[in-house]
Amino acid sequence: MGWYRAADLLLSRLDAEDAHRLAIRALKSGLLPRDRRPDPPSLRVEALGRRLPNPIGLAAGFDKNAEVPDQLFRLGFGFVEVGGVTPQPQPGNPRPRLFRLDADEGVINRLGLNSEGAEVVAQRLASRANAPGVVGINIGANKDTVDRTADYVACIAALAPHVTFLTVNVSSPNTPGLRNLQQAAALDELLARVIDARDRASEAAPRRPLLLKIAPDLSLPDLDDVVGVARRHRIDGMIVGNTTISRPDLRESEKAKEQGGLSGRPLFALSTRMLAETYVRTEGAFPLIGAGGIDSGAAAFAKIKAGASLIQLYSGLIFRGIGLVGAIKTDLLDFMRIGRLDSLSEAVGRDAAAITAEPWPT
Ligand SMILES: Cc1cc2nc3c(=O)[nH]c(=O)nc-3n(C[C@H](O)[C@H](O)[C@H](O)COP(=O)(O)O)c2cc1C
Repeated sequence: MGWYRAADLLLSRLDAEDAHRLAIRALKSGLLPRDRRPDPPSLRVEALGRRLPNPIGLAAGFDKNAEVPDQLFRLGFGFVEVGGVTPQPQPGNPRPRLFRLDADEGVINRLGLNSEGAEVVAQRLASRANAPGVVGINIGANKDTVDRTADYVACIAALAPHVTFLTVNVSSPNTPGLRNLQQAAALDELLARVIDARDRASEAAPRRPLLLKIAPDLSLPDLDDVVGVARRHRIDGMIVGNTTISRPDLRESEKAKEQGGLSGRPLFALSTRMLAETYVRTEGAFPLIGAGGIDSGAAAFAKIKAGASLIQLYSGLIFRGIGLVGAIKTDLLDFMRIGRLDSLSEAVGRDAAAITAEPWPT
């Protein structure tokens, strides 16, 4: 039995949160094998102000406290988003709070932004200051804060110097009230203040791209507003999107009743539709990162055609294992050859308009 397979089998038997802790420990110890193949030049993407070796990123929530960003690059990711982090440390919700829906290849989590806090995370990131690789930070607000916007500003001040990009997370379903920041007036004020904080934090350094991460549960009129406000503030990109509070038909009907955000394969259709809807509204004003249910090369390529310049994944790793990143690259290269594409950017958004004309996914 290969290394990957043995590790995956072990992890699949454990409680979901224990398995996650063990995976982080294995990465820390350097025990996991690395993908040594250099990426072919045709997978390169210019994005986030940098040249990325490939468009596949690790989504927020796996390495919440920035313990293993460099080890994650060894698995083949083109960029890594650490966090979500909150200004003050907080424990999150009581366990159990992370559930694997094996039959659906989905995950429900209600972690509630458990974080060691911005200071600890900033120190860890500072200690890898000159290491290569594009690392971004996903920032949120403390559960008991009185001024949520001030929390984002505090995170930016503490963390911007140590990362390549910043993601403003207004879409975690497990912090009461957080998603209300997607409403037009609230978002307008939030973006004004976080962009100001970003500009101040970046004075002596290159300006850090600022991304907004939205929920796949927005109504289309709300999405109109969000994209309109985002364009006015000239943000640098959007991540579409976070976990869903909706419950499509799931085989694991008991676990489906758990409160929290659903991710993984059952999120693919909704998140890809929202990605296409966002793409047609941005009219190229800023690039999109597609996330939600990517567990194969075909799913990754579908996200790109729906409008994603970059992609991110998390839940797919749980079910497909760490070989997934390499498998997606192989498949993307095949799709490029078949479609006679010199670069993936040629396919971005190609299917977006057609997707928006389909019946709404259920
Ligand atoms: C356990 C878990 C924790 C997560 N934590 C965060 C987080 O802190 N901040 C955030 O913006 N998204 C978080 N997410 C959402 C993911 O970044 C991603 O947007 C979502 O899971 C969809 O991608 P996937 O289907 O590939 O997992 C989390 C997801 C999971 C499964």
